[in-house]
Amino acid sequence: MEFQFFIDVALLLAAIMFIIGLRRLSSPDTARTGNLLAAFGMGVAIIAMLIYPLHSATNNYLWIAGGMVVGSVIGQQAAMKVKLTAMPQLVSLFNGFGGACAVLLGFIELYKATHGQSQPGVGELLIVVFTLLVGSVSFTGSMLAFAKLDGRVKDRKVTFRNHQYLNMAFIAITLGMSVYIAVAYPAVSFGLVIAFIIVSLIYGFSFVAPIGGADMPVVISLLNSFTGLTAAAAGLIYDNQIMLLGGVFVGAAGTILTVLMCQAMNRSLLNVVIGGFGSSASSIAPGATGDKVARSITPADAAILLYYSKSVVFVPGYGLAVAQAQKDCKELDELLEANGVSVKYAIHPVAGRMPGHMNVLLAEADVPYPKLLDLDEANPIMDQTDVVVVVGANDVVNPSAIDEPGSPIYGMPVLEVWKAKNVIVMKRSLSVGYAGIDNPLFYHERNHMLFGDAKQSMQELAREVKEL
Ligand code: TAP
Repeated sequence: MEFQFFIDVALLLAAIMFIIGLRRLSSPDTARTGNLLAAFGMGVAIIAMLIYPLHSATNNYLWIAGGMVVGSVIGQQAAMKVKLTAMPQLVSLFNGFGGACAVLLGFIELYKATHGQSQPGVGELLIVVFTLLVGSVSFTGSMLAFAKLDGRVKDRKVTFRNHQYLNMAFIAITLGMSVYIAVAYPAVSFGLVIAFIIVSLIYGFSFVAPIGGADMPVVISLLNSFTGLTAAAAGLIYDNQIMLLGGVFVGAAGTILTVLMCQAMNRSLLNVVIGGFGSSASSIAPGATGDKVARSITPADAAILLYYSKSVVFVPGYGLAVAQAQKDCKELDELLEANGVSVKYAIHPVAGRMPGHMNVLLAEADVPYPKLLDLDEANPIMDQTDVVVVVGANDVVNPSAIDEPGSPIYGMPVLEVWKAKNVIVMKRSLSVGYAGIDNPLFYHERNHMLFGDAKQSMQELAREVKEL
């Protein structure tokens, strides 16, 4: 049987593993094996591609092995050390390197073309310039997204007045240069190629600059889909089906995720890309705003309320991630269940700062999946719940999304916690959340504020419950 046949079968198996892996990623209980399966598929594809050049005269095994060892060590160390709250930054960084890879591939192909080492046609050149342009935007855009998320760059420091017009000019210039390079070849100088790369890289920065730091998860997902498209284009350049397929999967998954995030926030992608939302947050002193007064509760009173309830629903949010209170929350859950209280968790699709953020945190604390309710399951049982405990969440439980048509989050589906018999909101102050808007829930007649860091408050609640 021909050698090529085995390569084809290996690539087919890799593609099947990608598809099943991706499918399994859609549910928390199968995500782990899905991830492993897709990674194994990628391993098979890499080995098949490494064996493949045996057919040809050239091979660069030493370089490839060196790159793989260095990359694997850096990737493994970064993944082991990263805090869960810093995961979006890590994803952004990794995505940026994918974009940089595409830039290098495009650069090599254009170098060869402008130095007489290859004679590509218009179609091939269009694919190469597409790879270069999108890869550059993805690279520098992801790097700026990383810097913003990591708090290294403040939004206003990198944004000009009427920044959108500057970006429109960049789009026109880079597209114009792309078409010119493809059509005017071979009368294209290497200097023009360098200028094209520089302008594209600057456009990447400029594209992300006006977008609010808090909108970065959506932007990272969008840039991730861009990187997928460049990988697909590189697959076309090198006539490599598995690269094409992998790129299409990444591109499609990134696009779907971007759309889902926008839908869950009730915003259009254009609104996110134009920016402004979530980039400025005001702070309100604890206790009162104007004539509205928020009632506070002590840990001892809150513990009594919880201990003598029949049903409790925890609503985790970004503050739970910041405080790393998931394990303490699980401990309180166990203490309550031991007293016959039914405990569930209501998970909003955009609670936290990245898709599945809350699911990952709760899985880390070994909270069983059947206890997790999504938005559609949680809202119908709110009015039969004795106590809802909101742990560091804000926007995802804001009633303005339902009854205040002028609110920036009006129309966003939220967890209707105010319908429960009692609500306890655990946060440090009455400060706004990501959307930068006040939350009428804090002043609701059935709500009690338990001020403080979520981890410390959870520990105090557990201590009080143990003494009952
Ligand atoms: P937010 O509305 O951002 O509110 C989080 C709250 O946590 C803050 O108001 C803060 O109040 C509190 N907090 C911070 N540190 C705390 C600590 N150590 N202990 C206790 N509380 C603490 O969070 P959310 O309700 O999860 O909503 C998520 C927001 O992010 C939504 O607006 C969503 O649209 C947006 N977003 C989400 C995603 C994804 S995919 N998840 C992507 C993009 C945007 P204090 O400072 O008073 O403590």
